[in-house]
This record gives sequence, C-alpha cells and structure tokens, in this order.
Amino acid sequence: MSIDTLTPVLTANWGAERSWTLASYEEHGGYAGLRTALAMAPDDVITAVKDSGLRGRGGAGFPTGMKWGFIPQDNPKPKYLVVNADESEPGTCKDIPLMMASPHTLVEGVIISSYAIRAHQAFIYIRGEVLHVIRRVQAAVDEAYAAGHLGKNIHGTGYDLDIVVHAGAGAYICGEETALLEGLEGRRGQPRLRPPFPAVAGLYASPTVINNVESIASVPSIIANGADWFASMGTEKSKGFGIFSLSGHVTRPGQYEAPLGITLRELIDLAGGMRQGPDGQRHELKFWTPGGSSTPLLTAEHLDLPLDFEGMAEAGTMLGTRALQLFDETTCVVRAVLRWTEFYKHESCGKCTPCREGTWWLVQVLARLEKGVGSEEDLDLLLDQCDNILGRSFCALADGATSPISSSIKFFREEYLAHLTHGGCPFDPAASTVFA
Ligand code: NAI
Repeated sequence: MSIDTLTPVLTANWGAERSWTLASYEEHGGYAGLRTALAMAPDDVITAVKDSGLRGRGGAGFPTGMKWGFIPQDNPKPKYLVVNADESEPGTCKDIPLMMASPHTLVEGVIISSYAIRAHQAFIYIRGEVLHVIRRVQAAVDEAYAAGHLGKNIHGTGYDLDIVVHAGAGAYICGEETALLEGLEGRRGQPRLRPPFPAVAGLYASPTVINNVESIASVPSIIANGADWFASMGTEKSKGFGIFSLSGHVTRPGQYEAPLGITLRELIDLAGGMRQGPDGQRHELKFWTPGGSSTPLLTAEHLDLPLDFEGMAEAGTMLGTRALQLFDETTCVVRAVLRWTEFYKHESCGKCTPCREGTWWLVQVLARLEKGVGSEEDLDLLLDQCDNILGRSFCALADGATSPISSSIKFFREEYLAHLTHGGCPFDPAASTVFA
C-alpha cells in the first residue's frame, strides 16, 4: 500500500510552518470556500452539502446536509450552530489535532455552515481539559474577526456572524449533544429526551444544528471543490474521506486521512505494520476497535473489511469515530475491557438507572472475572446485564459501555475462562504497553 492511498485534505497543511495562523492558512488557499459560499444562496450551500453525501464524522454518520435541511426557516426564533468539539471517546484523537494544526479550517467551516442555516451566532464547545486547544481556536477566531471573515457585514455581503469559543468542564457525557446543550446553557450536563431533536428545539429551545468538528471542517473543501469532487471519493453510501486515528501496538501511530472504505490492513501497512518486539519479531494483531471503545471489538479476521458505515454495520459493529485502537497478542482482552468499563462507570452522568447502576454492576462482575475469582456463570450474567442496558438507557453512553463486553465474550470466551482456571490473569502485565 502506498502513500498515494491517502487523501490529505483536512490534514494537507498540518506540516506547514505555523500552520495554525491565518497567514499560513490563506497562503494554502484558505477562505476560498467562504468567498464561494457567500456568493451562493444559503439553500444552494445546503444542497451542495447534501449532494456531497457528507455524513456526520462524530460517530453516528447522520447525513449532514439533511440535518441542516431540518432547520425550520419559518420559525421566528434565532438559529444556532454548535460545534461539538468535546472529543472524548477513548482512542479518538482527530478533532483535537485538527484544531491544533489548522483551526482556521474549522472556523471557515463554521462561517459557511452558519450562513447556510441562517444562523448569526455559533458556538464551539471544546472539552475543558484541553486548554491549549481552546487558546488556539480562540486565537484563530480573533484573527478571523480582525480580517473581516467574522463579525458584522462579512466581506460586504450584509451577513453577520459571531462565534463564541466555550470551554466544557471535563465530562464525557457533554459530548452527547443534548447534554452539551445543557452545559452550554449553564446547567449540569445531562442528556435531554429526544425528540424533539436539536434541529427543532435545541439551544435556548431554538432550532440548532450540532455537528462534529471534522464534519464542519470538511465543508470548506466541499464548497471550494464541488460536491462531485467529494462524492467521487469513498464508497457508494459512505462518501468522501475521513481522519483515521491509529493507536496502540502499531509502529507509527497517528492520524491517517484516507477515503472511507479503506481497510485496516491497508492502514496498518501505511503505519509501518504492527510493532516489533526486542527480538525483531513482529507482533500480531489480536483485537481492535473500529471507532473507539463504544463500538464492538473486531479481530484479525476482520482486517479486510471496508472501513465505512455499511461495512462495519455488516460486521456487527460501527464505524463510529474511526478511532482504531490496535492490540497485539500480549494484551489481556479482559483487562482492556475492564479498564474501558471503569471509564464508562466513572463517566455515567447518573440520570438513568440502567446506566448508573448497570455500569457499576458490569465493573463488579468483570473485576472478579479478571481476578480469577468469579465463575463461568458470570459470563452469562454479564451478557444478561448488557441485554438489560442496551436500548434501555437515556442516551448512547450505556449502550457503548456494553459493546466491548458482549463482543469480547463473543470472540474471546476462552480467555475469560482461562482467568478462572489460572486463578488470575494469565498474561504477563509487563509484556503489554497498553493499560500497564
Ligand atoms: P444519533 O444517531 O441518535 O444522532 C445523530 C445525529 O443525528 C444527532 O445530531 C441527532 O440530533 C440527529 N438526528 C437523528 N435523528 C434525527 C431526526 N429524526 N431528526 C433530526 N435530527 C436527527 O446518535 P448520537 O446519540 O447523537 O451519537 C452517538 C454516536 O456518538 C455514537 O455512534 C458514537 O460513535 C459517537 N460518540 C462520539 C464520541 C466522540 O468523542 N466523538 C464520544 C461518544 C460517542
């Protein structure tokens, strides 16, 4: 697999000198999409995004143009655009690098997207722990105001837009779009019932589009190069390109921007293969997550499946955030799953019983299995608990918590049982660099 397989668009200028500055961004063609968009009717911008086939890059893959089309333009209330930059899914590391390396791609996308839905106020909600990212995005917003890309009468078109950069307070749940809105309104971050979806009643009960950073950052290139250009990449129903973040036991972890539909085998090849041991022997892939730990695990059997929405659904999982976490044969799957489950238990907002109580119970049972003091019946108990959580909780957090458990029992039942016969973890923890 050659480097030509990659489609650097969002990542194209990450290596440029001071790539985060307006001067560097404009030198590489930045803000051309904005000028094109402002010469178009807002509805034509929505049509272009619909025609491109862009689907939400935050994980769920909802068609972006369709979401924008849901904003009722006859509603006299203000319309808002909110960027979900609360990237927190374990293993997901695409939005934060994008905002650090090229914040103007996001800012330009926000202006075009707000213009399309006729919003005059936009918010970028960034997870609170990443102060350096908040500062960088704020600096880009300030530069955009100074250059006349933001504020009153943008480029003399009569269109006004303000952007507020908002810092979250460090809760995973605030990446759930309605919990994010609660946080933005100054309340405790807990999800709201949907429907109504934010497109109808979102921020301050007004029509609101909430999109992920990468979705919005893809918009300038679609407007500058055309919907057909975007749709010519990817697969039939999963169009365009995306940033795949590879982490774990691979030689060169990092962000690889490629067309949707690429396979993990190709990506591992681009990333220099699985890591080598001190003896020069290459380790083998044991299991991996396609889109962070909220998506069911896959194994080495699934290396040649297309990484697109359909291919992953057919394999019983989800493309999610394209957070490809790779684990080799030195990793104890039970320990990895326990570690993730502890995360979900900690991050449960506590609003609904299946999640609050369920994630706590999942940790109890998994922990005794990992210590080798459980029983074989505990595996059925875990699956029963997962059944009682899946689809019964308020939002997707608890559903996600069940994914690594049920999928790991499906593929690695024997490894769970080995903990019981061994009276503890049969793996040497020193051999693994993950979850050490
Ligand atoms: P969802 O499928 O319920 O909704 C996706 C989007 O489509 C939302 O913006 C929703 O408002 C909109 N939508 C869906 N049906 C609609 C309708 N009938 N009318 C108007 N709008 C509609 O998915 P959800 O719960 O928003 O997100 C779950 C996903 O988030 C998971 O797939 C997971 O991969 C991802 N995730 C991402 C994280 C990250 O750090 N990026 C963290 C955790 C999960």
